[in-house]
Amino acid sequence: MAQASEDVNFRHMFRIPTKGDLRRKANSRSSNSTKKDDDDEPSTYLCGNSLGLQPTLTQTYMQQYLDTWATKGVFGHFTDISDSELVPWLHVDDDVVPQMAQIVGAKESEVAVMQTLTANLHLMLASFYRPDSLRYKIILEGKAFPSDHYAVESQIKHHSLSPSNAMVLIEPPNPSSSPLLPTDHILATIDAHASSTALLLLPGIQFYTGQLLDIPRITAHAQAHGILVGWDLAHAAGNVPLQLHAWNVDFAVWCSYKYLNSGPGSIGGCFVRDAHFERPRLAGWWGSSKSSRFAMTNAFEPIAGAGGFQLSNPSVADTTALRASLDVFKRTSMGALRERSLRLTGRLEEGLLASRASGCYRIITPRRVEERGAQLSVQLNPGLLDAVLQRLEEEGVVVDERKPDVIRVAPAPLYNTFEDVEAFVRIFGEACLEAVARGEQSGSSVMAEGGKEDKGWSEIK
Ligand SMILES: Cc1ncc(COP(=O)(O)O)c(C=O)c1O
Repeated sequence: MAQASEDVNFRHMFRIPTKGDLRRKANSRSSNSTKKDDDDEPSTYLCGNSLGLQPTLTQTYMQQYLDTWATKGVFGHFTDISDSELVPWLHVDDDVVPQMAQIVGAKESEVAVMQTLTANLHLMLASFYRPDSLRYKIILEGKAFPSDHYAVESQIKHHSLSPSNAMVLIEPPNPSSSPLLPTDHILATIDAHASSTALLLLPGIQFYTGQLLDIPRITAHAQAHGILVGWDLAHAAGNVPLQLHAWNVDFAVWCSYKYLNSGPGSIGGCFVRDAHFERPRLAGWWGSSKSSRFAMTNAFEPIAGAGGFQLSNPSVADTTALRASLDVFKRTSMGALRERSLRLTGRLEEGLLASRASGCYRIITPRRVEERGAQLSVQLNPGLLDAVLQRLEEEGVVVDERKPDVIRVAPAPLYNTFEDVEAFVRIFGEACLEAVARGEQSGSSVMAEGGKEDKGWSEIK
């Protein structure tokens, strides 16, 4: 395990797209007809909050998986292969659980690698949301990721209840001045609905603002009122240190394609606290103990743990890709990664605040490092977004956008560098000033706010 002071830059273990890679329509570099001078330079990829980059091990392990399938067929389920790092397919899920449990701070028995995030959320709600005439509400944020909103809404309807009174949406206290959700405001909303609420579902890190919520405090507060607490950790898993067991979280779900780098749509994760292993559930054969799984007796014998909530045999391709990424995480610790992440994101913040273009945007992510992970969300002045994104694309800078005017910028500590951050700040600043100048020339209302004055979020909204 690496200590916090060790350098944890694992960039050499990732495939960083070059600028030419991003420009070409084809994958193959030989198909390039219109070559540019900087085609071979690495791109500035700051989008690990959306899709993490590919570890170099992924190709090696995927090839081993394909070779096993090609040469062993069905026996790949049971056979130890001497020239492969991978376990027989029957055990692929168990193989990745220990490292995943480390990353989220849980006992191994409390973690399952299974399904996908939204599917896992439904499975957890089926187990944990058991409304009765007294407690029937679910509290979530008003700007929850739409899939979470749909999952909760449909679960409420599934119990023949009405979302209009069973779904409590937490909105920012002052939406015109800040999109953030202060902890006290969340706690006050819980208090206001305490006796009628069955369940609280919140994001560890809010996808739009990048706000890291106070998971232990909010969990303890809700539980003191008899409310079960679940967390969507899509943007937190592999990004910030988590202690799900110590924080007494009831359940959590996450995906593995963001900071966990296992490829688009890859397999999800699920945490069930040990006190809940006996809960009712929607069952499938993969949740039944290995000894009985193939007996075909119709006697469901749930695995004692989160694994007992699995349904189907897991995608070996997905799980193999996850194993490749977790083998990188294995070389370090979340503490060491967080230390580097704080420095990278701190440098990004400093650069953005000191930029000549700082009047063109505002950082909406909390300034306190305890309240954020790797990502900063930057809100541009109205009318600038499209021109700025176009310029970033031309320069091989990858971030993602949330219309109408926010970009999310996330230096991932495993593979991003301080040079990436500095390149972004420079190119982004130039792009903003150019967009303003172009807007002024064309007589549109695009404005720079002029220097580094601190404008209120509402003023530039
Ligand atoms: C916060 C959050 N929740 C849920 C989802 C949905 O994930 P999936 O499509 O894997 O179910 C996403 C996807 O990006 C997300 O960011």
